[in-house]
This record gives sequence, C-alpha cells and structure tokens, in this order.
Amino acid sequence: MSSILLKGGTIIGPKGRTRADILQVDGVITKIGEIEEPADTVTDASSYLIFPGLIDCHVHFREPGFEHKATIATESASARAGGITCVCEMPNTNPPTVTISALGDKIQRAALTQDCDVRFFFGVTKEPHLMALKELWTSQSGELQTLKKGCSGVKLFLDHSTGNQMVDAELAEEVFAACGELGIPLVAHCEDPKQNTMAKEANHETGVEAHSKIRPARSEAASIAYAIDLARKHGAQFHVAHLSTAQGLEHVKAAKAEGLPITCEVAPHHLIFSERDYEKLGTLVKMNPPVRTLEDNEALWRGIEQGDVDCIATDHAPHTPEEKSAWEGDDSLTALDAPSGVPGVETTLPLVLKRLKPEDIYRTMYTNPNRIYSLGKEDIAEGSGADIVLFDPTHQWTITAKELHSKCGWTPYEGMQVKGKVVDVL
Ligand code: DOR
Ligand code: ZN
Repeated sequence: MSSILLKGGTIIGPKGRTRADILQVDGVITKIGEIEEPADTVTDASSYLIFPGLIDCHVHFREPGFEHKATIATESASARAGGITCVCEMPNTNPPTVTISALGDKIQRAALTQDCDVRFFFGVTKEPHLMALKELWTSQSGELQTLKKGCSGVKLFLDHSTGNQMVDAELAEEVFAACGELGIPLVAHCEDPKQNTMAKEANHETGVEAHSKIRPARSEAASIAYAIDLARKHGAQFHVAHLSTAQGLEHVKAAKAEGLPITCEVAPHHLIFSERDYEKLGTLVKMNPPVRTLEDNEALWRGIEQGDVDCIATDHAPHTPEEKSAWEGDDSLTALDAPSGVPGVETTLPLVLKRLKPEDIYRTMYTNPNRIYSLGKEDIAEGSGADIVLFDPTHQWTITAKELHSKCGWTPYEGMQVKGKVVDVL
C-alpha cells in the first residue's frame, strides 16, 4: 500500500476553486477535506492548483507508420508532462485507422504505455470503412464492444491534409447519416476543397506566407456551414476540429443558438500565432488550417472566455525538423511543400493560462471533451481513481525543446517565457 497526502492545494472543479487536502491511496482518492492522517509521502500543495488529468481530444501520435516523427510512448510521456493524461488520436497513420484490425492494433500498442489513456478516432475515406465503423458501433460481440471503448468516434477530413484522407461529398453525407442514426460522435477537419483549389490556382507566390492564402478563411467558414447543414439534416452530434477563424466561430454560435448539438475546439497555435509569425518562424508555423489574423486570434480567445468554444485541443502533429526544412536544399520544392503540423501537448497549459482562468481549462480540457466523446474520465472526488495534476502557477520558465519529451525535438514556442508549470501528475 502506498499513500500520498497533498496538503492545502486549490482544487479546480465544477464549482470553481476549493482549498482542501487530498489523500490518495494506491491510486484512489480516499479522502478530501482536512486530513491529519499519516501518509507515506506528504506534499505541501498550498501554492499549487490541482486539476484532474486533462484531456486533449485532438492529437497525432504517428504510430504505426511514422515512428521516425513520434511514437505513442514518446508523445504520451510528453502529454503527461504537460498535465494531459487522456488523448484522442487521429486516424492518419500508416496503416490508417479505417479498419477494425487497424484500430485493434493501435489499442494494443497504447496498452503498453501507462502515461496516457489513448483513445482513437476511426477514419472513413471509402465505403467499407463506414461499414466497419457501423459494425464496431452496433456489434454485440464482446471483442468489438471492448474495441469500441477505445474508439472516441469518427474523424472526417473534408479537404486533404497530412495523410490525404479527404472524403468525397457523397460518402461524407452517408457518414453524417450513420452518426445521426447510431449516435456516433463525429469530428471534421473543415476546409472546402473547391475554394482551396481555386485559391491555390490563383496563387503564384512560393513563400510560406502564401500557405494562409491558398487555404483561406472563407474556405473554413464555408466548410463549417456545409457540415452544420449535414449535421442538422441527419441529427448528428458534430464537433468542428481546430476552428481557426472568427467567421467559422459565427457559424458555430448560430448553430448552438438554434439548439443543434454542435461543438468546436480551438488549438493553442491558432490563439498565439498569426500570419505575422511566418517571417520569423517560417515553416515551423505551417499547419492546416493555417495561421490567420490577429483579429481571428482575439475572436478565438473571446470564444473560449465566453463559452462558445467548447474545447482546447492541441492538434499535436509532430514532424521532424529535417522534414520541415527539406525544401530548402531542393530546387524542385518550395516552403509550401513542407509538411503541415506543429507539436503542442506539453506546452499548452502555461501558454493559454497567460490569458485564461484555471476554470476555463477545467471546462475546455476536462468537462467538455469528457462529455462530447463520452470518455468516462473521473474527476477529483472521494472514491475516484482520477489522475491528479499538480500545477505551480508561479513557476517562471523558458520553453525550450531540449527539455520537452516529444520525439520531434522542436517547438514553435522555443524561447518563449511563460509562467506556470506542471510539477507532478499522480
Ligand atoms: O497541420 C496539420 N497537421 N493539420 C492536419 O490536418 C493534419 C496534421 C498532421 O497530421 O500532420
Ligand atoms: Zn489534426
């Protein structure tokens, strides 16, 4: 038996902040309140904020197929160091997560790491993938019901991104219909392929700044409006991935006002970076959807503060530094050929707490993703096996990739000074 007593921490919960001691015995919280009992370890938590293990409902951990970029084990360690102990991982691996056997393989791999509870999205790019998803959701077989517990829902790419998993319009509608019928949570990467193609054809620039022009804001907004129409028509619970524009947010707000079960997430890089950062950071801030304007940044921050944005999700998408800069040594390539995506699981908390309140974190990285994807993650309470995140809000530090755990070895936030650090996760 091993016991840990946390004295006097500030617990962030559904009713805000509570100061109390916590006794954890063999991973279970046995008591919360004023505790004078002895314990194997006693920690003075009086200057710490205490969160339940946080949830990041949008990550790419690259395994199997791209282990040179990242693995489930390395990125789970990175997530945990950032206070995140449950993630939902995207299907653009190799093989992609579009069959029950690929899902089963990933679940087996994830069982080897204790750092993070990894759930997986099922992808659909062809009809048989949808058949497999329906079977997974409805089967009475014990084996499939166990696999279903490891599946957070379905992910659709409405335009191409890393992994070329774009779904055509006809199949997309079938997926919305199936999700409406079977109650499967559906998340989509919303960009309009026609608008993006038109913008790309009109573009003659090769600098990385052109990335934001060839995947314009209006493309995201149009795609979100289209997806909301499908969700309304088929009664689907629909979640907008990495919302990056003020225009897109307006569509989500209107859908919510209508009473539709529409939710959305924002990634930290879309809060912090804008087109102005290409000059300094180049392809290190190239991602899909791309960085936008300062006005968009502000609209997204406000969307979180006002409760219109449901989740903060990192879209942690590691590529190697060599891949990000390969175009520089190749005359046949431009910066626009560099892979899109940035890491983020380990740095998010202090970055967003520069502006947000701990209660915003609790809502967007615990309550809402837990509810949207029915993840069943426990909160801090007596009898609960919840992970406990100890966060020191006063610790000042400078972000440097050398001290982070992601296999990719770089961060777009290199050199940024932040306040607040995860001290431990119990
Ligand atoms: O920037 C991105 N990177 N956006 C995506 O849609 C995919 C992701 C990746 O897997 O690299
Ligand atoms: Zn993504």
